[in-house]
Amino acid sequence: MNLISIAIDGPAGAGKSTIAKRIAEIMNLLYIDTGAMYRAITLKLLNKNISFADKKMIEKILKNTKIQFINNCIFLDGINVNEEIRKPMINENVSKIAALPFVRERLVKLQRDIAKNNNVIMDGRDIGTRVLPDAKYKFFLTASINERAKRRFMELKEKGYDYSYDEIVKEITNRDKMDSERAFDPLKKAEDAILIDTTGKDIDEVINIILSKIRKIN
Ligand code: CDP
Ligand code: CDP
Repeated sequence: MNLISIAIDGPAGAGKSTIAKRIAEIMNLLYIDTGAMYRAITLKLLNKNISFADKKMIEKILKNTKIQFINNCIFLDGINVNEEIRKPMINENVSKIAALPFVRERLVKLQRDIAKNNNVIMDGRDIGTRVLPDAKYKFFLTASINERAKRRFMELKEKGYDYSYDEIVKEITNRDKMDSERAFDPLKKAEDAILIDTTGKDIDEVINIILSKIRKIN
């Protein structure tokens, strides 16, 4: 059976999850938000007050953690944590956890297993380079830092959070820097990924570009 795999990578606020979700609906694919997986593990470690330097304990916790996607929501050990994992505390810590090679190894395996059995669109930082290097369709979305921060600002404002634009620029810049500079599977465009600069483009425009590229590749 020939399964479809679509990889979407890029920095924070590039529009990956919004666009991947919509393409999943249009093409009837399973959408996997790999960032949510790193966020969920981070939430569990913070809740349990585990030191990020305690490799043995983190490995033990990873073994005893269940992550599921149900109706595009992430469940951590059976509990829907979709909202909780987007909180500032997680933003501040997730890149530290995502830099740990044994955490990545575990989550990459889980992500590959899902792609072995389903038609998927997966978004993250290392999907095209590491998780699904053989994916037929790879996209790297980006946008200027100002545009990405503006999008996040609007999104958070709509949800009732009161962050300044400058705080958001700082948070995103820090996280992108850590994600790009880490030793293991850093945020990087795969050589064979199609680069789409979404600055000044709305969601429908980006979706149409991706769908037309997919038609061309086919
Ligand atoms: O939504 P946003 O783009 O801000 O972040 P996310 O996709 O939810 O990812 C949160 C964090 O998880 C990133 O900043 C990375 O540190 C990490 N991550 C990763 O290392 N590898 C992935 N495949 C996905 C996310
Ligand atoms: O997943 P990622 O961090 O790459 O970005 P996202 O969470 O999908 O998008 C961040 C925000 O930007 C959301 O509120 C989207 O609706 C919005 N967005 C936009 O206004 N224009 C785009 N071309 C893409 C996303």
